[in-house]
Amino acid sequence: MVEPDDRRIDYSLCAKQVAALLEGEPGWLPALANASALLFDVMPDVSWVGFYLVDGDGLVLGPFQGKPACIRIPAGKGVCGTAMAQDHAQVVQNVHEFPGHIACDSATNSEIVLPIHSRGAVAAVLDIDSTTIGRFTEEDAAGLAEVVRALEAGVDFDSRY
Ligand code: SME
Repeated sequence: MVEPDDRRIDYSLCAKQVAALLEGEPGWLPALANASALLFDVMPDVSWVGFYLVDGDGLVLGPFQGKPACIRIPAGKGVCGTAMAQDHAQVVQNVHEFPGHIACDSATNSEIVLPIHSRGAVAAVLDIDSTTIGRFTEEDAAGLAEVVRALEAGVDFDSRY
């Protein structure tokens, strides 16, 4: 079992690593692919790390690490669609108690989702899942917000890839 103290990671370092990975290549595809790989590698006790991109009225699956996932999520639906519609991070201790949670993997028990902005609007969300109930805290939300800021500063969401 992973104890809460063992889940702490240096999010500032992580944000710097994401910024370094973006240098000279602002395209969203390589940026989000590398960012999902980095977070999946360094975060203990997570089962899925990835991005959904805003497409029309909803979200479409972007680069990720983990099991295959739902491809489209309507705005306002599930944890990701709620983060998009409310433009607010969601820290869900128990996904089974979240109204409308979309279960891509039945083993998922907790989830954290943060909106990512471009040109003043939500352009994507970062979604991280865990099989452990209560895996994510407000501390994770604050730390991951640093990583999201690095992405917002360096990624061109309008690029072809
Ligand atoms: N559980 C999410 C759907 C995406 S998967 O977790 C990868 C949700 O409720 O939005």
